[in-house]
Amino acid sequence: MLQVTPLTPILGARITGLDIASGVDGPMMTALRDALDLFSVLVFPDQRLDDAAQIAFSEGFGPLERTRPGAPGAGSPVIILSNIGPAGEIAPPTDKQLLNNKANRFWHHDSSFKPVPAHASLLSAREIPSAGGDTEFASMRGAFAALDTAERASLRGRVAIHDFGWSRARVDAALVSEAERHQHPPVRQALVLEENPYGPALYLGAHARGIEGMDEAQSRLLIDRLMAHATQRAFTYSHKWRPHDLVMWDNRAVLHRATPFATTTERRHMVRTCVAGTAPTLAIAA
Ligand code: OGA
Ligand code: MN
Repeated sequence: MLQVTPLTPILGARITGLDIASGVDGPMMTALRDALDLFSVLVFPDQRLDDAAQIAFSEGFGPLERTRPGAPGAGSPVIILSNIGPAGEIAPPTDKQLLNNKANRFWHHDSSFKPVPAHASLLSAREIPSAGGDTEFASMRGAFAALDTAERASLRGRVAIHDFGWSRARVDAALVSEAERHQHPPVRQALVLEENPYGPALYLGAHARGIEGMDEAQSRLLIDRLMAHATQRAFTYSHKWRPHDLVMWDNRAVLHRATPFATTTERRHMVRTCVAGTAPTLAIAA
């Protein structure tokens, strides 16, 4: 029997009573899809998964994204978030892996820079540090609902520009190559996602460079204010990892970010799969 225990009043639930590696049947998958819609973040403790089992479970939610060229795990459906080098040693701090991990410390929605951004992400903890390295989530439905009526109306229908090259260069100029910029030109995304069955959600994050119809300074002020509003404690859940946790989140309902840990002395090895989105955030005609 599936047990669903809410983690906060706004988002997150712990899911027990299933063994993912041994397979999940159709009715249970339906219940999990519903739980993801409702709670935005699902925590599955004690799930010993190898890559194949993680991929098989993730595919139950829809086709997976392929990891982009230039990222660890490129071309496969898994992305590796790790400070461990190929020989099993902690990678030196100049390594691109570490810069990528640094980029993950800014609140973001996975792949919001793609024309059709990711629906859900699943992250499994293979090795975790003894302290730090928590992952935080912020409810963009909760944040939107808490804005006043006039502001909600003024945001609906607006378009944000999400730009991978711009956001990565803000972290470190060495993080983005010309080829990557070329591969991910700026894209237009709805600022408010209306499709969520449990209410509209703000959609912003680290890749949101500006708002159409506003100048750069105005855009920045608005984005920074909305991000500060959305990431207040009341709308967040912070996940303290235990080995073999699997955490799944709905990128169209939450922001997330990594938090620091002692990257040069402690090991952290996480494996992520990403369920592809099925539609652009804006109507095609928009
Ligand atoms: C991710 C991510 C944060 C973390 O997997 O998409 O942002 O804490 N991870 O590793
Ligand atoms: Mn991420």
